Amino acid sequence: MGVLSSSSRLARRTQVISLFAVGALALSACGGSSLEQSGDGASGDEVKIGLLVPTSGVYAPLGADMSNGFKLYLDQHGGKLGGHKVKVVNADEGEGPQTGVPAAQKLVTQDKSTVVVGVVNSATALGLRDFFNESKVPLLVANAGANDITGSRKSEYVWRTSFANGKVSGALGSTVAKEAKGGVYLMAADYAAGHEMVAGFRKTFEAAGGKVIGEKYTPFGKTQDFQPYLSAIRSSGARAVFSFYAGAEAVSFVKQYKQFGLAGKTPLYGPGFLTEGGVLAAQGDAAVGVKTSLHYSAELDTPRNKEYVAAYKQAFGKAPTVYSVQAYDAAAVLDKALAKGTSSEELTKALAGVGAIDSPRGSWTFDADHDAEQKYYLREVTSGGGTIANAILNDLS
Ligand code: PHB
Repeated sequence: MGVLSSSSRLARRTQVISLFAVGALALSACGGSSLEQSGDGASGDEVKIGLLVPTSGVYAPLGADMSNGFKLYLDQHGGKLGGHKVKVVNADEGEGPQTGVPAAQKLVTQDKSTVVVGVVNSATALGLRDFFNESKVPLLVANAGANDITGSRKSEYVWRTSFANGKVSGALGSTVAKEAKGGVYLMAADYAAGHEMVAGFRKTFEAAGGKVIGEKYTPFGKTQDFQPYLSAIRSSGARAVFSFYAGAEAVSFVKQYKQFGLAGKTPLYGPGFLTEGGVLAAQGDAAVGVKTSLHYSAELDTPRNKEYVAAYKQAFGKAPTVYSVQAYDAAAVLDKALAKGTSSEELTKALAGVGAIDSPRGSWTFDADHDAEQKYYLREVTSGGGTIANAILNDLS
C-alpha cells in the first residue's frame, strides 16, 4: 500500500470525523446545553478536569500509566492544582476517534469539564482538534503525536506535553544512517502516527545518507501475526529495521522479531514506545539490543527523576513510563496555569505563560506551536542482574 494513497484516505477519514464533531457541537448548542457554559465546570472552588485515555483496546496499558502519572501529581499536591480542589472525570478513548471523539464531547458538553487532558492516539487527536477549537475549551494532549495539531492545524486551545511524531522519530535518523551496514526497512502500524513516524525518520535518515530498502504498514490494532512481514524483511536483504509500534502491538512485534531469528542479526530501531514500561517487561530478553529515541527513560540519572521513580514505585509498585511522565507534567502545567484563573478562557490564556516545567524528563517549555521543547535520548535495551531496562547511551539533537 502506497504512503500517499493511505495518508490521503486517512486525511479524508479525519475530515469526516471532524465534521461529525463540529456537527455534534452545533446540535448540542441548539439543545440548550450551551458550550459557552462548558468552561464553568467548577462547583464552588472545585475545578473539573476531564481525563480522556484508553481503558480498552491495544493502548489500554498506556492509558493506565497516564492515569497513574496524573494521580501521583495530584496526590503529591493534596488533590489541588493552582490552589483549587480538583475533580477528575474519566472517559475511555478506546482505540481511535470513533470512540474517543464522542467520549471527549461528553466530557465537555455534559460533564462541563474546564479542560480535557490525555489522548493517546494521533487519529483521535486529529478528530478532536476542531471540536476543542470551536468550543473554546483547552485540550492538553499528554501523548498523541499528530504533527498537524501543533503545526498546520495549530489552535489557541490545543497544547501538548508529549512530542510530535516527526520529532521523536526524526531524532533517530542520523544515528541509524551512521550505524546501519546497508539498506534499512521501515515498518509501522497503518494509521496517522505510523505514517508520520516513518516520514519523520526517513527525512533525517536520508538527509544523513541512509538508504531505504523497503517499507510496510500493518493493519492497526488487528495484526497479531507478523510472520509474513518478517519474511518480507528477510528477503529484502535489509541490514537494519526502523519500526513504530506501541502497547500490545509492540510486544508481539519484538517477540516475533526474535522468534523469527532477526534479533541480533538485523538491528532493530524505533521511537522508544517500542520498548517502554510494561511493553518491555512483557518482551523480556527478546528486546535486548533494541535501540530507540525518546524524551524519557526511567533510567535517567538525575535527582529529580530518581525522586519521581521512587515515589511512582511506592504508589504503583512498578517503574514509571514516558506516558506517566507526560500526564504528570500535564498536571504540573495545570498547577501553574490554574493559579491564574479557573475558567476555560482564563486557563487557556495562562498556558502561554507557564514557563519551564521541572519534569522528571528534565526541564522543558512549550514552544511557539504549543509543543514540548525538549531533549531526546538514544536508549538501548540492556539486561543484567535479572533486570531489563532502557539504558541511556547519549543525547540526540
Ligand atoms: C499516537 O498515536 O500518536 C501514538 C500512540 C502510541 C504511542 C505513541 C504515539 O506510544
